[in-house]
Amino acid sequence: MKTAIIYYSKKGTTQKVAKIISEKLNSEEDLINLKQNTPLDISSYDRIIIGTPIYAGNSSKKVKKFIVANLNHLQKKEIGLYVCGMEKEEEKQREELERAYPKELIDKAKSKQFLGGEFLFENMNFFERIIIKKIAKTDKSISAINYQNIDRFIQDI
Ligand SMILES: Cc1cc2nc3c(=O)[nH]c(=O)nc-3n(C[C@H](O)[C@H](O)[C@H](O)COP(=O)(O)O)c2cc1C
Repeated sequence: MKTAIIYYSKKGTTQKVAKIISEKLNSEEDLINLKQNTPLDISSYDRIIIGTPIYAGNSSKKVKKFIVANLNHLQKKEIGLYVCGMEKEEEKQREELERAYPKELIDKAKSKQFLGGEFLFENMNFFERIIIKKIAKTDKSISAINYQNIDRFIQDI
């Protein structure tokens, strides 16, 4: 089973999670970062896993664009969907996931999970630091990658 893990990552955490998923899967995987803007042909893959971070409630524009451009192809593949974010409430985590991907892909996906995230102050700009300091009430980096949900994600797929 040939798998592509296709993601966008602004600060590195969604990429870190893609690598963890890749290590836990026992198949042949290609990790594809949409930041690189290279043309992408998904026809040779049996399974596609898509990952996006959430910023201000929204998923990555590059991920949305990739999905719109490939929706017909994606509907013929095995699908896994994840989002990375620091939202703590489960209900809101579910809402973020449901807003990140089109309903037809969510319905089709074997695996879909909110996999947590990180606040990495060293990677933030001045404005992000001010916002996150206020929200998180700390200026220390926090890692809240949800390893339990990663294991659930792997089990379901
Ligand atoms: C300015 C800013 C806004 C954010 N807004 C949200 C949000 O609305 N919901 C959420 O769950 N996480 C939010 N986050 C947390 C990010 O999703 C988290 O840091 C994630 O790990 C980023 O992934 P990346 O490193 O792959 O870009 C925000 C982070 C920053 C810096």
